[in-house]
Amino acid sequence: MAYNDFRMDNQWLPFTPNRAFQKDPRVFVGADGMYFTTHDGRQIIDGISSLWCVGAGHNRKAINEAIKAQLDTLDYSTAFSVSNDKAFRAAEMIAAMAPGDLNKVLFCNSGSEAADTSLKVALAYHRARGEGHRNIFIGRERGYHGVNFGGMSVGGIPANRKVYGAALLPRVDHLRFIHDPVNHAYIHNQEPVWNEDILLELENRILPLHDPSNVAAVIVEPVAGSAGWYIPPQGYLKRLREICDKHGILLIFDEVITGFGRLGTPFASDYYGVQPDMLNFAKAVTNGVIPMGGVVCSDRIYDAMMGAHGSAPEHAIEFFHGYTYSGHPVACAAAIATLELFQQENLFARAGEMGPVLGDAAHSAIKGLPNVISIRSLGLAVGIELASIPGLPGKRAYDIFLDCYHRGVLVRNAGENLVFAPPYIVEREQIDTMVNVLADAIKRHA
Ligand SMILES: Cc1ncc(COP(=O)(O)O)c(C=O)c1O
Repeated sequence: MAYNDFRMDNQWLPFTPNRAFQKDPRVFVGADGMYFTTHDGRQIIDGISSLWCVGAGHNRKAINEAIKAQLDTLDYSTAFSVSNDKAFRAAEMIAAMAPGDLNKVLFCNSGSEAADTSLKVALAYHRARGEGHRNIFIGRERGYHGVNFGGMSVGGIPANRKVYGAALLPRVDHLRFIHDPVNHAYIHNQEPVWNEDILLELENRILPLHDPSNVAAVIVEPVAGSAGWYIPPQGYLKRLREICDKHGILLIFDEVITGFGRLGTPFASDYYGVQPDMLNFAKAVTNGVIPMGGVVCSDRIYDAMMGAHGSAPEHAIEFFHGYTYSGHPVACAAAIATLELFQQENLFARAGEMGPVLGDAAHSAIKGLPNVISIRSLGLAVGIELASIPGLPGKRAYDIFLDCYHRGVLVRNAGENLVFAPPYIVEREQIDTMVNVLADAIKRHA
């Protein structure tokens, strides 16, 4: 089909039902603050920060100007064996914000690349220490770490994995999921206290099965974002840290969604008071405006990688990994401007303040509506789970997403969940609009 003067059937859309989309295209042609402008001239509230990216809201002049100035100064330079001034500054700012001794930033271009980079660092680190037999990774059911082969293998969303069979990494196991639909279906701005210790499974089954001495790393999202915003039991991440420490296993936090303010703190690591050995980021680091991702590694990992080559000549590369666009100067200029803006406008604190407002609104307007079986809010995000239509998984949430779009609200449908994660600049009235439009749509699709 055609829209205006260009075709619309040449782009194969990612993670999208393309046939349905072609019948009912949804096209953005502008954005400002909390709103998109559509091809048919309507305003749509960005209720999901454009997939957890646009924390500071759209069309932020400071970021745009930094990008324009960078283009006129140093448009691009290769990143191998030379670098650029903005990459050093961006890394310095990210390291200063990251917890503890997470000081060494490996840049890449996306969350998927960050996942695979962190897994490769884990293997290389253990090998550098003479423990190359540590090559098992442990992810979690319904975890999401992007779409590359490493991230997909440690990820646990069945639909993303099911057609790739033996092409998935072989030495991978998964922790059980962190949701209790019976006792903790409704969570509002708190950490659920479980009667059961769900990490006994790791200690008593998974690690003995593989032998802990063979395990390279555990990778988890502190809060499971893409699955639909599922919140871990109280103490879970601390205990995971202890188990990893006991056995010399690296702990990787994938903070692609939780990083840069979503919980009201710089990282979920700060919120939970648990420091990983590597922290993956992407999305909000540039306010989504230019692709960028990265892995912040501990000094310990970096030092081991350098030290291992003690006998190697100094011209030898220590880690054979990197991307043409690692530390791209334009992306780094965008990151610097974004991090400054977050700080100047105190936007992480604002996310922390508006989180309970969103949670209150969602719980009071949506709990008890037809088919609603769970609501989970923490930080500035809420996941609402619906009973699926028998034989048509995901259809109810998809239909509700479409309904909301046509009524001016962008909500994210993820399986049977609908998720809001608005920019940190969101106002109370906009939260009310988002939640009320969703509540009405849920009733219409009962
Ligand atoms: C936790 C997490 N990791 C990795 C990714 C993949 O990021 P990207 O789509 O930038 O490759 C995502 C994307 O949503 C994510 O939520």
